[in-house]
Amino acid sequence: MKLQPRHYLMCRPSYFTVEYIINPWMDPEVPTDTALAVAQWEKLVEIYGQLGHKVDFIDPIPGLPDMVFAANGATVVDGRVLGAQFRNVQRADEGPAYSAWFESAGYDVKAPKHVNEGEGDFLVTENFILAGTGFRTDPGGHAEAQEWFGRPVISLQLIDPRYYHLDTALFVLEADQVAYFPGAFSPGSQQVLARLFPEALLVSAEDAAVFGLNSVSDGHNVIVPPQATQLIADLTARGYNPITVDLSELLKGGGGPKCCTLEIRA
Ligand code: ARG
Repeated sequence: MKLQPRHYLMCRPSYFTVEYIINPWMDPEVPTDTALAVAQWEKLVEIYGQLGHKVDFIDPIPGLPDMVFAANGATVVDGRVLGAQFRNVQRADEGPAYSAWFESAGYDVKAPKHVNEGEGDFLVTENFILAGTGFRTDPGGHAEAQEWFGRPVISLQLIDPRYYHLDTALFVLEADQVAYFPGAFSPGSQQVLARLFPEALLVSAEDAAVFGLNSVSDGHNVIVPPQATQLIADLTARGYNPITVDLSELLKGGGGPKCCTLEIRA
């Protein structure tokens, strides 16, 4: 199988810490180790390099501890960028910072009119853009993405606050194939997913709770948290190559491998 090299944008967690609460994983009382967060993140960068993927970097900004979660910074499809507009004031300045990076790199960037948290809530399959709502991204942002990218956007309702972004409950394996935790979605959205992806890999509550769905697939290699043991076995059984990366420090902020990875789709 000939794999396409991917192009990612990442942000070193130089200023990572947990100093506010905007999701149930965050507890400012629990100490964080920034040096360990950086070391774990560097491992992820190293693996992308070994797999032949290209990684660009945006400079971290002091006072924006969640900026490491690059996936939220924008959505890029067919070389077109939809900027992010964050739900919470603590992350508001990240949107313009990421948009400025794309503008200076020469991309066509649309300033968002509605709240959308980038690839946290927009996941791109071959034929669809899957779009989460319920906690962060506004449904108006879904319509905006559909119009800007010219691709059908499928709105999905998230119902469990631990899975506040779509990328904590679902990831794209390849083309039009996905893995997801059904319990994160409303009954209607579960039916939509079952209809669109009858062959999907269904992931257990246990693997979801260790952020197993926050994985990154290039179509064959899947970067997955080591704690998601059943998922790892299921991926192997389906012929994928799971590669474990432990981002335990960043999980204290409610993020994993996918959250750290913004895909730039040419
Ligand atoms: N603390 C961040 C927040 O709650 C974590 C974001 C994780 N990113 C993601 N793509 N799920 O916004």
